[in-house]
Amino acid sequence: MVTYSTIGVLGAGEVGRAVAGQAVRHGHEVVLGNSRGPQTLKALVAELGPAARAGTAAEAAEPEVVFLAVPFFAVPELADLTDWSGKTVVDTTNQFAAAGPWRGRYDVGDLTGSEWVARHLAGARVVKALNTMFASFITADPRHAEGRQVAFYAGDDADAKAAVAGLLSEFGFAALDLGGLRAGGRLMQLDGPLNAKHLLLQDVG
Ligand SMILES: NC(=O)c1ccc[n+]([C@@H]2O[C@H](COP(=O)([O-])OP(=O)(O)OC[C@H]3O[C@@H](n4cnc5c(N)ncnc54)[C@H](OP(=O)(O)O)[C@@H]3O)[C@@H](O)[C@H]2O)c1
Repeated sequence: MVTYSTIGVLGAGEVGRAVAGQAVRHGHEVVLGNSRGPQTLKALVAELGPAARAGTAAEAAEPEVVFLAVPFFAVPELADLTDWSGKTVVDTTNQFAAAGPWRGRYDVGDLTGSEWVARHLAGARVVKALNTMFASFITADPRHAEGRQVAFYAGDDADAKAAVAGLLSEFGFAALDLGGLRAGGRLMQLDGPLNAKHLLLQDVG
């Protein structure tokens, strides 16, 4: 299985910070990028420590594994940031049509949200993960006395899925494979039966 030491995090809001915190705590280097530029991320990277650095959005898209933590409707803006071909992209997005209190759903026709994301990032190996829970649950230690919190994932590339499952497991989650972006993604996305659902895996000791 491929493992990754440096992780890109595109989007440095609630989810990007949560993912970056987990990655740094588990021994990875992180490059964070947002739309406004690295100078706006100084305080955040100082808080995350020496394993984190701020970059441009293009620099955050450089590593072989990139967490996508931007608004869904911003994904088309990322198409030309880098050569996405072969990169593992962890899609944490939810399909809201806009920012703000009444956000509606972004219409992608018959596609699932992550299939649509994959179409915009040509050649990327997209794995949907971590979109089903609030960022506060990504930040928190997923290991509880009663069991490990389940993190669902879905994707169409076996190697990328194995790498993402490895990262989720390192973070302390019980990674649960839901299949491909079509069937698994549909279960996980907004209005899917597993969105906003929390499960614990009872580890048998
Ligand atoms: N918040 C949650 O609890 C939660 C949970 C699960 C999934 N999600 C999903 O995860 C994604 C991120 O949510 P969030 O709450 O973290 O959002 P957020 O706090 O609003 O942060 C969004 C981030 O994306 C960046 N961004 C926007 N357009 C960009 C672009 N073109 N290039 C680079 N960076 C860009 C923003 O940078 P600037 O600030 O510089 O514009 C900001 O850092 C969304 O799709 C959301 O639906 C959220």
